[in-house]
Amino acid sequence: MNTAVSTPLTARRGGPVQGRARVRGDKSISHRALILASLTVGESTVAGLLEGEDVLHTAEAMRALGARLQRGGDGVWRIHGVGVGGFAQPAGPLDFGNSGTGCRLALGAVAGCPVTATFDGDASLRKRPMRRVLDPLERMGARVMDCAEGGRLPLTLQGARDPIPIVYESPVPSAQLKSAVLLAGLAAPGETTVIETQASRDHTERMLKHFGAKIVSRVYGERGRRITLQGRPELTPANVMVPADPSSAAFPLVAALIVPGSDLVLEAVMTNPLRTGLYATLREMGAKIETLDPRDDGGEEVADLRVTASALKGVDVPAERAPAMIDEYPVLAVAACFAEGVTRMRGLQELRVKESDRLEATAAMLRANGVTVEIEGDDLIVHGKPSVAGGGDVATHMDHRIAMAALVMGLAADNPVRIDDSAFIATSFPGFVELMRSLGCDLS
Ligand code: S3P
Repeated sequence: MNTAVSTPLTARRGGPVQGRARVRGDKSISHRALILASLTVGESTVAGLLEGEDVLHTAEAMRALGARLQRGGDGVWRIHGVGVGGFAQPAGPLDFGNSGTGCRLALGAVAGCPVTATFDGDASLRKRPMRRVLDPLERMGARVMDCAEGGRLPLTLQGARDPIPIVYESPVPSAQLKSAVLLAGLAAPGETTVIETQASRDHTERMLKHFGAKIVSRVYGERGRRITLQGRPELTPANVMVPADPSSAAFPLVAALIVPGSDLVLEAVMTNPLRTGLYATLREMGAKIETLDPRDDGGEEVADLRVTASALKGVDVPAERAPAMIDEYPVLAVAACFAEGVTRMRGLQELRVKESDRLEATAAMLRANGVTVEIEGDDLIVHGKPSVAGGGDVATHMDHRIAMAALVMGLAADNPVRIDDSAFIATSFPGFVELMRSLGCDLS
């Protein structure tokens, strides 16, 4: 991505958001499909892969580590894996661009192989904490040879020749952290266990099973999971069908809720219960979201969602819901601006370590558009009213979700909302602007 030139974009209020759309493949599942297929022996096929910049960086990293990846013209990828523990020494640094998921999952996968790799990324990724992942990986025998202050990128990791299985209790509800430990555990003899006191998205567990690993996930405490993986499996090639990304669907969905007269169907959206906290919250706010034709698609639940413009009211969003909607707070905050009354979103500490400090960036986005907002500790409090002034210039801080949330706001605000840079939208949602325009939205 050419980060030297920024591409501003403005959203204006226009007609209703109408029609049918299918957003692209899920980002979390796309990263995992590439990494796990690269660790099988033989050839797997992935259909519906999200070809966003984040995932393409993971694809490049897998190539550099010795897997063969071929992109078909129809968005179908064929991946020839190297087997568990079979990564080759990469010739140069691995560049993960803007992607925390690609980087942290690959750190785990490399930690279990006898290779040394340098991990790097853009200015946003270089600021993000990696220590949380490096701590358990070092316990498993990997060594950090070099890193920037606080364990940040660029960093060089020497994978373990003989990885050690561990029992790891995760201090934060992070699927990236859990997945890094499980991916390193693949190459360790015996059982690697991850305990999380609050369940985070379980795509890694589901997909490991799909590729033939022995993995058991049990309920732990009130809201947690205890996951045990049997190490050194021979992963078998499999086909993966990537469902539509609920975190991307969230943007047209909220647009349809807040633009009067809207009526939109979003097709085949993944409805894994560990990803649908936003939908539960919006329904509590009074959103009319109908679930049509719920079904199973390649090991994940999917459904079509019909959304119609709705009068929303403010709600209290409990901290326990955060893992199931962690990426959706910026756009929920936008919905909250248009709701009658106060919305309090609790326990958002993890938002501070996303592509930007998303707690501050979200608050600043709303303030720039005339909304009253407070941050109290780790809570975000939005004072909503049915009419929002807009007219603001929003700083996106290399953060795709701030960019898209601000544009959604501009579709319903009294005055246009301008973002400083739309380039980062392509990290997760290439084609966002075209898709929104096809539904009647004014973005230029
Ligand atoms: C992701 C997990 C979440 C999420 C990110 C994708 C994943 O991060 O914010 O966009 O695919 O595992 P954390 O695991 O750090 O909470």
